Amino acid sequence: MVEAVRDAGVVVTGAGGGIGAALARRFAAEGARVVVNDLDADRAKAVADEVGGIAVPGDASAIVSEARDALGGTVDVYCANAGLGSGGTEAAEEEVWAQAWDVNVMAHVRAARALLPAWLERGEGRFVSTVSAAGLLTMIGAAPYSVTKHGAYAFAEWLSLTYRHRGLRVHAICPQGVRTDMLTASGSAGELVLAPTAIDPEDVADALFAGIEEDRFLILPHAEVAGYYQSRAGEPDRWLAGMNHIQQRWEAAR
Ligand SMILES: NC(=O)c1ccc[n+]([C@@H]2O[C@H](COP(=O)([O-])OP(=O)(O)OC[C@H]3O[C@@H](n4cnc5c(N)ncnc54)[C@H](O)[C@@H]3O)[C@@H](O)[C@H]2O)c1
Repeated sequence: MVEAVRDAGVVVTGAGGGIGAALARRFAAEGARVVVNDLDADRAKAVADEVGGIAVPGDASAIVSEARDALGGTVDVYCANAGLGSGGTEAAEEEVWAQAWDVNVMAHVRAARALLPAWLERGEGRFVSTVSAAGLLTMIGAAPYSVTKHGAYAFAEWLSLTYRHRGLRVHAICPQGVRTDMLTASGSAGELVLAPTAIDPEDVADALFAGIEEDRFLILPHAEVAGYYQSRAGEPDRWLAGMNHIQQRWEAAR
């Protein structure tokens, strides 16, 4: 058991399935009281019933106040996990870009805005952001996803450096492929880039809990991402050429 989360009031957004459901199960198994959010009310309720939690369905952008009430007035841990796997190029519709921005970035900003006053007053709080390796690197064929996940990572980083001396703990989870509905929906690009090294949602929960115990910001369920991230920073043209090679393989296979 991880002492930091025992009896904690935890909110997980987008927890009706996939990574969010795995996080909800793990927090519950560690003795936390869990609010399970999802746009899909039936799926939220099914997971909440399974883990002995409370379902708070709805858009992840606007549930902090209801979730806080459901937890008796205090949110200790907030997992901004709901996300859209918005694919497409620069030509993706404005609506696709706007939705990706709204769910993948602004929902995190709005949650933090609602949570920070109480956390700063208490001198503690934990914000977990399910970003993606695409937030450190990129995702072939998915411009809105890649750009907004960079935004999510930047926001998590900014929160951490701004409030860590005031008791805020932030974790940014950056996996590559994880076997969920989102991976299935990612089509041939996901098949090429993500599926070969895909892990299970439970592995993501394990990585987060190891990171919580070690008080670590960056959570890499795929350890090799650290090397790719280093290469992107240190040798950008070499890294871009390598990624373009993958792009060309994807184009040839389509
Ligand atoms: N599956 C992967 O390969 C992978 C890799 C890296 C990061 N991620 C990230 O993990 C997170 C979870 O994705 P997943 O793979 O479990 O996908 P998923 O599609 O299985 O689950 C996402 C859940 O979020 C819900 N959701 C969508 N918009 C919402 C909103 N506005 N409010 C509340 N709920 C909403 C959906 O109904 C769904 O149940 C996402 O942020 C995703 O970008 C996934």
